[in-house]
Amino acid sequence: MIPSSSSSVSWLQRFLVAAWFLGCGCLQGLSAASTVKVNISRVEDAVNFHIYYGQTFKVIKNAIDTRSYLLIQDNSRMASRTKYCTSRIKSFIIPLSNYSVDAELFPVSFFELLGLLGSLKGITADSVASPCVLNLCEGGGAEMINKSNPQQFQQFSANFISNTDLAQACNFASFAPTSESLPLQRAEWIKYLGVYANLEYKANQVYNAVKENYLCLARVAASKASSVKPTVAWMEYNDNIWSFTTETLKMKYVEDAGGENVDESIGKITYNTSNPDDLEQLHAILCTVDVVIDGTNTFDPTGYTMSTFVENVGVADTSCFAFLANQSLWRYDKRLQNASNTLDWFDGAVSQPQLVLADLTEALFPTGNYTTTYFRNLAKEESVVNITADMCDRDTSTALDPTIIPCS
Ligand SMILES: *[C@@H]1O[C@H](CO)[C@@H](O)[C@H](O)[C@H]1NC(C)=O
Ligand SMILES: *[C@@H]1O[C@H](CO)[C@@H](O)[C@H](O)[C@H]1NC(C)=O
Ligand SMILES: *[C@@H]1O[C@H](CO)[C@@H](O)[C@H](O)[C@H]1NC(C)=O
Ligand SMILES: *[C@@H]1O[C@H](CO)[C@@H](O)[C@H](O)[C@H]1NC(C)=O
Ligand SMILES: *[C@@H]1O[C@H](CO)[C@@H](O)[C@H](O)[C@H]1NC(C)=O
Ligand SMILES: *[C@@H]1O[C@H](CO)[C@@H](O)[C@H](O)[C@H]1NC(C)=O
Ligand SMILES: *[C@@H]1O[C@H](CO)[C@@H](O)[C@H](O)[C@H]1NC(C)=O
Ligand SMILES: *[C@@H]1O[C@H](CO)[C@@H](O)[C@H](O)[C@H]1NC(C)=O
Repeated sequence: MIPSSSSSVSWLQRFLVAAWFLGCGCLQGLSAASTVKVNISRVEDAVNFHIYYGQTFKVIKNAIDTRSYLLIQDNSRMASRTKYCTSRIKSFIIPLSNYSVDAELFPVSFFELLGLLGSLKGITADSVASPCVLNLCEGGGAEMINKSNPQQFQQFSANFISNTDLAQACNFASFAPTSESLPLQRAEWIKYLGVYANLEYKANQVYNAVKENYLCLARVAASKASSVKPTVAWMEYNDNIWSFTTETLKMKYVEDAGGENVDESIGKITYNTSNPDDLEQLHAILCTVDVVIDGTNTFDPTGYTMSTFVENVGVADTSCFAFLANQSLWRYDKRLQNASNTLDWFDGAVSQPQLVLADLTEALFPTGNYTTTYFRNLAKEESVVNITADMCDRDTSTALDPTIIPCS
């Protein structure tokens, strides 16, 4: 039925097919029956990966690169006998002794939450927003790898990449939390990394804490929104065009924070500020919203102020903009590693969505006594927080505890 070049491949394929049919239930039984009790992770929310357990191995199916990762326990007989590196299956010996990461837009914070920075030995760039990873880069704990010399990756047990289009060597493993459309689905990718380190217990613990806190904050926000939902415009400016976001992730955050997305009430998403009719319409829409989130990309977040926004909107008379009168104009670039223009929004915010939700709830229903993590209020001239290596406040090999926001 399935073409195969060797009997062991066909065995694995049959196993995977069986796993698909039977779901995780049988395999959980299998592992429970084994002499070594293992902790397992179950995927509850994410849609782009699945985990299956055998007695001495695990299989991750990654829907983004369509590969199966066979993770073999280092103390098993299979470990010395089996190696796969095909377009469909790759094998790794676990727990990994060390790893490297392709740091471009890679959320290293997932490794921090698992306490795995101690075995991060290589990195392709210092464009990271984590003070402790910067510390490893600057202190030499993680070697800088030149991506043009791919053989440099060979010395690591695994090289994690987030760009699945990259040419893949045998030890490359793709990690794609941002392929998911919803905040909690992204955060659940901590389980994907946990399986490579036999840290399922820790990964489950972190995810459960994050999820419980997120859902609690969403319930509180919903009760605040029971009378009137503030209307939120999450918008970006690029090359004279303003567009309102249609991204599921951002719209979900706004809804969960008790807001209503403006795009549900307007017919058109993009507005060309060089076109007088568009400009007039944009002006009118902005007169109806309560909160604006300006997600415009810039090379200089530090220099992006309220007047930058007003200039980009290009209307002289802003007197009807209630979000300005009410000081509710925000950007998600508060935590910034200036030298490489890297925002923690693309890192820490991916693994801890409860912090994003808490920020947004404060933006929509200000209490004045909550300090936001990722969002800064341009209307209050709030400035960026420059992330530097000396802000690392713990031994890099200890786990970063997720921040749980008081919620009742
Ligand atoms: C799961 O892991 C935790 C922490 O490592 C340990 O305390 C617990 O006994 C483990 N449970 C099983 C069933 O192995
Ligand atoms: C990386 O390697 C390439 C090819 O060997 C070389 O041309 C380039 O200068 C190197 N870059 C850095 C930053 O060392
Ligand atoms: C990573 O671990 C492997 C396997 O234990 C080892 O051979 C290699 O030298 C280690 N690499 C580094 C950079 O520590
Ligand atoms: C925006 O409008 C100007 C003036 O009409 C036009 O020249 C330009 O091509 C438009 N831009 C886009 C992206 O449509
Ligand atoms: C400002 O926000 C408050 C609630 O936070 C609201 O009651 C008020 O109407 C808003 N003012 C304007 C001008 O929108
Ligand atoms: C911060 O980034 C800007 C833009 O890249 C650059 O001009 C400035 O020199 C940087 N400042 C520091 C202290 O690195
Ligand atoms: C923050 O303010 C709200 C209302 O203004 C109040 O109910 C709450 O107790 C305050 N929280 C803290 C931690 O001070
Ligand atoms: C952050 O760094 C920029 C330049 O790199 C500087 O202009 C700004 O004042 C710094 N902000 C803070 C809060 O230190």
